[in-house]
Amino acid sequence: MAQLWGGRFTKETDHLVYQFNASISFDRRFYKQDIEGSIAHVTMLGKQGILTQEEQREIVSCLKGIKEDVEAGRLPITDEYEDIHSFVEANLIERLGDTGKKLHTGRSRNDQVALDMRLYTRLEVLKTRELLRELLKVLLRIMKENTETIMPGFTHLQKAQPITLAHHMGAYFEMFKRDDSRLCDIYERMNYCPLGSGALAGTTYPLDREYTAELMGFYGPTLNSMDGVSDRDYLIEFLSALSVIMMHLSRFSEEIIIWNSNEYRFVELDDAYSTGSSIMPQKKNPDIAELVRGKTGRVYGALMALLTTMKGLPLAYNKDMQEDKEWSFDAFDTVKGCLALFTGMLDTMHFCKDVMKKSAKNGFTNATDAADYLVNHGVPFRDAHGIVGRLVLYCLEKGAAIDELSLDELQAVSPIFEKDVYDAVSMETCVDARRTVGAPSKQAMEAVIAQEEAWLEALENEPHCAK
Ligand code: ARG
Repeated sequence: MAQLWGGRFTKETDHLVYQFNASISFDRRFYKQDIEGSIAHVTMLGKQGILTQEEQREIVSCLKGIKEDVEAGRLPITDEYEDIHSFVEANLIERLGDTGKKLHTGRSRNDQVALDMRLYTRLEVLKTRELLRELLKVLLRIMKENTETIMPGFTHLQKAQPITLAHHMGAYFEMFKRDDSRLCDIYERMNYCPLGSGALAGTTYPLDREYTAELMGFYGPTLNSMDGVSDRDYLIEFLSALSVIMMHLSRFSEEIIIWNSNEYRFVELDDAYSTGSSIMPQKKNPDIAELVRGKTGRVYGALMALLTTMKGLPLAYNKDMQEDKEWSFDAFDTVKGCLALFTGMLDTMHFCKDVMKKSAKNGFTNATDAADYLVNHGVPFRDAHGIVGRLVLYCLEKGAAIDELSLDELQAVSPIFEKDVYDAVSMETCVDARRTVGAPSKQAMEAVIAQEEAWLEALENEPHCAK
């Protein structure tokens, strides 16, 4: 058992207590951030004359050596240390003796862990944004290729009005674009450095907190030391944004599962992204989409767990906060994995355009347009709605679409119908007539696509935060 705090104790920690308390099994994940933070801290201590230049140089180069050794597998991070902070410090002391003991001057594990987790999470925010960007690129490609691919749009999972595949994908583009902007906001708010908060009340050493903040790419130091060590809002915000991403991915997955079903056949998943059954040879299952949908629950779980952990905590640091890590890490990994796989699945998915169009045609998705036709010929909308309702009933009995009826049949329901009704209710016209901003016509869609493309390009050039 390697502990940093034995002085005031006369007895050994109970073995189970030690294990219960230890966090090395999961905080080893941010050894890099821990070392980065220590290097910045020591560099500042040297600049301030709290450590000599020589001591500073020695400690920094030894910390770099520890990092290299860990990375090369020469120095395994084992369970004999309580946490990653003890691991680094113990190894430093082993290598440097008394000089190593000066590392922790003006620092507490409370501000140290607050820093490590923030550094680690900050990187995760950026990695998630990168994966979102890949997904957005695929969506944009599909949108560009399918401004004329007609499909039924649904409400209540009932065919409603014709739209295009570009339009449907465009809806998801908007969702993931908002997700990116949420991550961007979080980054902006969280990018302040808690190091120097000490245990809770700052320190008596003349630390230069602006300097350490700058060394690690923060906008500045946090402004209250009690808040600095006990704020986990940024994590809650991130888990919340991740939950929303999963909610979006899950809705999308649900649609893909439906579209891939035998009844719909709107899409076919690539062999590389689907799985078979051990007993039913005909099966090609959408397991990836189902897993993404299923994993949404565990990300929500991480959010709920942390919200609940934090809700009753008095200021400042409490050991409860150690619980911020495992679920968060699980959520970070889960969302990254889901985004990457979902993007691959979408990118390789085949859209059965004929089936989609046929489905739109056979579902009375032009009924509203038939009513609008009557309205344009002077029939009040409510009456037009009734007339077309009767028409649909007739079609259902006959097993035909509205535009498959003869003019005589149409006129038997309303004499207002003329030959030009066929053109007015064709799928192409129905889509083309919807030209307002955000509507599915090719014209409206192309305007939106141009905007989205410009936005994505700006994001490429300024990956941290293009709004
Ligand atoms: N493992 C701890 C955590 O994750 C590090 C901070 C320990 N601080 C303390 N006062 N015990 O929160």
